Amino acid sequence: MWRVKSLDAILATAQKKSLHRSLGLVQLTLLGIGGVIGTGIFVLTAEAAQKAGPGMMISFIIAGAVSAVAALCYAELASMVPVSGSAYTYSYAVLGELVAWLVGWALILEYAVAASAVSVGWSGYIVGLLAHLPDPIIVPPELAAGPYAGGVFNLLAVIVALAVTGLLVIGTRESATINAVLVAVKLVALGAFIWLALPVMSNENFHPFSPLGTGGIIAAAASIFFAYVGFDAVSTAAEETKNPQRNLPIGLMASLGICTLIYLLVAAAAIGSYGAQPVMGADGAALAPGSMEITAACAAFTDQPLVCSREALAHVLRSIGHPMVGNLLGLAAGLALPTVILMMIYGQTRIFFVMSRDGLLPEKLSSIHPRFRTPHVVTWITGVVVAFAAAFLPVGRLADISNSGTLFAFAVVSVAVLVLRKTQPDRHRPFRTPLIWLFAPLSVVGCVTLFAFLPWQAQILFPVWSLIGLAFYFAYGYRHSHVARGHTDVPETEIPGPISK
Ligand code: ALA
Repeated sequence: MWRVKSLDAILATAQKKSLHRSLGLVQLTLLGIGGVIGTGIFVLTAEAAQKAGPGMMISFIIAGAVSAVAALCYAELASMVPVSGSAYTYSYAVLGELVAWLVGWALILEYAVAASAVSVGWSGYIVGLLAHLPDPIIVPPELAAGPYAGGVFNLLAVIVALAVTGLLVIGTRESATINAVLVAVKLVALGAFIWLALPVMSNENFHPFSPLGTGGIIAAAASIFFAYVGFDAVSTAAEETKNPQRNLPIGLMASLGICTLIYLLVAAAAIGSYGAQPVMGADGAALAPGSMEITAACAAFTDQPLVCSREALAHVLRSIGHPMVGNLLGLAAGLALPTVILMMIYGQTRIFFVMSRDGLLPEKLSSIHPRFRTPHVVTWITGVVVAFAAAFLPVGRLADISNSGTLFAFAVVSVAVLVLRKTQPDRHRPFRTPLIWLFAPLSVVGCVTLFAFLPWQAQILFPVWSLIGLAFYFAYGYRHSHVARGHTDVPETEIPGPISK
């Protein structure tokens, strides 16, 4: 179970494949921004405010810093091994099959559960948008949220998750051009938000700055970390990138840097213009986001505070006198968030595909549809699970669960990069992480700290999930592994990447 897949075999596989290298630096950066900006900033800003109040600005900086050091480590491995499977593939080559399996298993949380979270976020915006039409359409509360908020299930979240899955099954890849247009839509929407909200900032809204103390700020960072997840989508497009050695690291860092800046401006504008204080319970403690208690407390307000909104940014704009722009922002979120879902479900099927190609999952899973040439079985399984979770769970809970898997994967990548520096110091490294002996340990410490501040439900779920994964591995993958059987050959079938030209 400590067997490794040799780096040279992986690279040879990559070289023999004929995916056309069509993505340049700008497209790659746009791909990163397209995968990153989503429910985190549009929806979870409310969640972060409930945990930290205006101090969530520091939370955005902490989460961005942890993502940046992790991205630097990712960049070195992605430039050395520009193949699909990202963290799973790197771990297989460096730390062995068991660790790779656990990383792949954790990536299910990262990608599939994140897709559920974004579906729920999308639903919140569409429900709000429909309610603010000139002829309002009210989605019945039973179908607008799961039992956590007094509903039955979240119908719109299910619809969007299954619709995106259907598109992926018939072979829809996001075209780089459409991605660029949708990134522009998101940037214009967030730009308009900053433009309208910043000038009406008032200093008072920043007091008290940190009503729940440092613990609250770090807890909010652990949740808002979700807003940065997805930059690794850049590395999954490695095989389609021109000059990946140069473009991957720059694309990763550029997309992360741009997103951090935007997030800080949006957070400052939301806090300053409208206020972002948490809602407290009768006992003086802040209520848990996504709970029945906070839903009940929020129902008592006539003017909904930021933390109560399921469409935080549109709500702020409507409340500060720009109802029309608020609706347009809702429309922009409605148009752009499905591409984040697409990237996440795509990423998931790609990881499953690589794992089953390596023999760690049954081969049936990677069977290709005769007409559409897509891995339809695994795509439908993923989509149905994504829709199910989205139907019944609150967005914040889903984001926290997703974060637990992502933090684990990032920590392992940071260890892997150090191990590889020791074990194969002479291997060609097109991009060398600067100050690696500082940044990689910092990344590990950052990931562990954020994990420690996640809500207990997510902390418990992760080890349970990993144990289930171990059981699967020893029941199946351990014996069927292709590396164990000595063949690491180039596969016959390959599925195309997430982006077409
Ligand atoms: N970072 C992505 C989002 O916020 C997953 O939606």
